[in-house]
Amino acid sequence: MSVSSAGNGARQQVFVLVGGTGDLAMRMLWPSLAMLDQDGFLSDDLRIISVAREDCGTEVCVDRIGTAVTKRIGDALEPDTLARLRKRIVHVALDAAHDDWGAKLKAELGDIDRLDIVYFLSVSPSLFKPICEHIERAGLNKAPNRVIIEKPIGRDLATSKIINDSVAHAFDEARTFRIDHYLGKETVQNLIALRFGNIVFEPLWNAQSIDHIQITIAETVGVGERLGYYDEYGAIRDMLQNHLLQLLCLLAMEPPAALSSDALRDEKVKVLKSLKPITAENVLTHTARGQYGPGFADGHPVAGYEAEKGSPSNTETFVAIKAEIANWRWAGTPIYMRTGKCLPSRSTEIVVQFKPLPHSIFGPEAVANRLLIRLQPDEDISLTLMNKAPGLTAEGMHLQSLDLSLSLVKAFDSNGDKPPRRRIAYERLILDALNGNNAQFVRRDEVEAAWNWVDGIVKAWTDTHMKPQMYPAGTFGPVSGYRLIERDEGRTWND
Ligand code: BG6
Repeated sequence: MSVSSAGNGARQQVFVLVGGTGDLAMRMLWPSLAMLDQDGFLSDDLRIISVAREDCGTEVCVDRIGTAVTKRIGDALEPDTLARLRKRIVHVALDAAHDDWGAKLKAELGDIDRLDIVYFLSVSPSLFKPICEHIERAGLNKAPNRVIIEKPIGRDLATSKIINDSVAHAFDEARTFRIDHYLGKETVQNLIALRFGNIVFEPLWNAQSIDHIQITIAETVGVGERLGYYDEYGAIRDMLQNHLLQLLCLLAMEPPAALSSDALRDEKVKVLKSLKPITAENVLTHTARGQYGPGFADGHPVAGYEAEKGSPSNTETFVAIKAEIANWRWAGTPIYMRTGKCLPSRSTEIVVQFKPLPHSIFGPEAVANRLLIRLQPDEDISLTLMNKAPGLTAEGMHLQSLDLSLSLVKAFDSNGDKPPRRRIAYERLILDALNGNNAQFVRRDEVEAAWNWVDGIVKAWTDTHMKPQMYPAGTFGPVSGYRLIERDEGRTWND
């Protein structure tokens, strides 16, 4: 497929990647652009401007991009993809501290009235304000131009408002695309398909039939190079405020009236606003904080977070929360969430645990149904059902559980032997932003409602002096993480 200037009539599309030589750009964004190009999703005349402080010149910049793309997705690259991508790219050295930022970019852009510009600010949020000001002062912010920004959108509600206000000065809400890369993941998008494309789940999708839900995002890696950033944020701000709460919203929201961006996001906001506050009164039973100590994770010995930092720290690298949603659908059915670094395995999964039968004619052999949705490392959805154990026994009939499994890779394996390429989450999101579709981006009121709830938890930690408990690297978090769920009778994490 080959397209020209998608979405905005005769205007030529320009993708301005600010932070074009940075880590995220090299690991994720350039490889995503390369794949979109290869698959024919970029308009033929789309130009890409890489912006960075570094004056490395276009030749060096595209060489580095070529190396990074090959490293990330070399197996999937077709022979002419890199050459085509290279032709689109120009690197411009600009320093946000200098007043000529906008003028220099404008000179590179050419006739801006004929352009449809998408900015991706892959830089520290402290630069969002000066960069948006440069863009605005140079008149480069007018519709249909839009901006993509990424977390951390603040450290709390107050700081997120400052960031959002500074961006809003240049770009209205409809043209502000806040990325949560989890929303670009195939299986996360599939949650919407699963819930609202099938009738079988909806009548059971409530507190009457569901005992509880678990969401786990476990990582084997530690904080590594990002210690400076991480120590300021911790697991609650780095992962829970955004990725985990987005998953919670998709699982708990009411069916939207349409797949349009506002219909979807209105429903997500309602969930966030229905979360019961966690306060000093219940913070001990509803949250767990941990920090990895010495141990062994991801195949390597780990010195421990404080040893890596070289000084004491109160930052949590593990957090578990029991969330309760105060509405008719979910009252009485908690959602347990946890995430951490240096855990024993890398996995992201959701467990929807159904209630036991109201009356079992099979005795205790009948185990409650469970829906398991795995996002990582592989994508899989399986429903545990009770079955008659095959064969004949003197005592009569026995039950056994059986998984009805939908391996997404196998299900959509088109040619029988080669599994479809697993897309980078940013591919979907960059494509949507190019096409002006913001349904899978986070709206300002969502970010703020999420911060509002998270701020309450952080305050409760401070008020009760609740410090992170040490867990050995390579284990599933501190004891308090287990207690959080096991305190509620009959419930355990699906480790
Ligand atoms: C990022 C966090 O948003 O998500 C990182 O800042 C984390 O700390 C990463 O490692 C996890 O993303 P994924 O896609 O690897 O699960």
